[in-house]
Parts: sequence; C-alpha cells; structure tokens
Amino acid sequence: MEVQSCVKIISEWDIVAARQLGRDIAKKMGFGTVDQARIATAISELARNIYLYAQKGSICIEEVFTVDRKGIKVLSIDEGPGIADIRRAMEDGYTTSGGLGAGLPGVKRLMDDFSINTEVGKGTEILTIKWLRS
Ligand SMILES: Nc1ncnc2c1ncn2[C@@H]1O[C@H](COP(=O)(O)OP(=O)(O)O)[C@@H](O)[C@H]1O
Ligand SMILES: [Mg+2]
Repeated sequence: MEVQSCVKIISEWDIVAARQLGRDIAKKMGFGTVDQARIATAISELARNIYLYAQKGSICIEEVFTVDRKGIKVLSIDEGPGIADIRRAMEDGYTTSGGLGAGLPGVKRLMDDFSINTEVGKGTEILTIKWLRS
C-alpha cells in the first residue's frame, strides 16, 4: 500500500470504519493480532475524540518506511476547538466531557511515536506511529 487512506469522521459509524481500516492495513503489513488490536484501539480513541470534541475531522492511515524498518502511521486531523492544556489532556483521568480521560494517554502507550500539534480555535493534529518489529 503506497497511498494514504483517510476516513472522514462525522458520525459514530465512521469511528467503526476507521478502526476496521486500521486493523486491515495493520494485518496486511504483518502486525500480529495483539498489535492489530492495539492499533485499532488507538484509532478508535482518536476518532472518538474527533467526534466528541471537534464534531468532524479525518483519520488518515499510511505505511511509512525508514532504511531499516516500516511502520503504520495514524494521523488524526480536525479543525475543532483545539486543546488548551496538552499536559493536562495527557494525564490519566483528565476529561472535559465526563469520560474516562484514558483516551490520549492510552493512545500514547499503545503506539510507539506520539505527537500533538494543536492550537486553540484552530484545531488539532495528532500523529502516531507503530513500528513493525521483524
Ligand atoms: N481532537 C480534540 N479536540 C479538542 N479537544 C480534545 C481532542 N481530543 C482530546 N481533547 C481533550 O482532551 C481531553 C482528554 O482526552 P481523552 O484522554 O481522550 O479523554 P476523554 O475523551 O475520556 O475525555 C478531552 O476531555 C478533551 O478535553
Ligand atoms: Mg477520548
């Protein structure tokens, strides 16, 4: 797979679709079932956050390569309200919606690379990668 696949997140069904796409791509790339589940769960959490906080956005998934390894890149993009305090948002249990507050810290644990780019009033981009160990 060379092209990036994006799923627009508008309804709760799209969360399921993004999760499934991620699992399919991870499986094709050779990730084991446990990693497939980790990647699918991370995608679910990111997509649910888009749905809850930004109302709409996209989850884009693509295979990435370096000289000695490959990985699955999951990018969450929205033009929602942004996150005012990233440090707090990354704490276990911090939520502004009465949720569990386990989503973002969970995604960070489930994936290998994790970075957030957000601006209040502009939106949020979260880039994560899971590397395939051979
Ligand atoms: N895409 C987003 N846009 C705006 N705010 C977000 C986004 N994702 C997460 N947040 C903020 O970060 C907080 C923590 O997110 P998370 O760890 O997923 O916990 P929860 O969704 O259970 O509240 C959310 O309560 C919300 O305030
Ligand atoms: Mg969440």
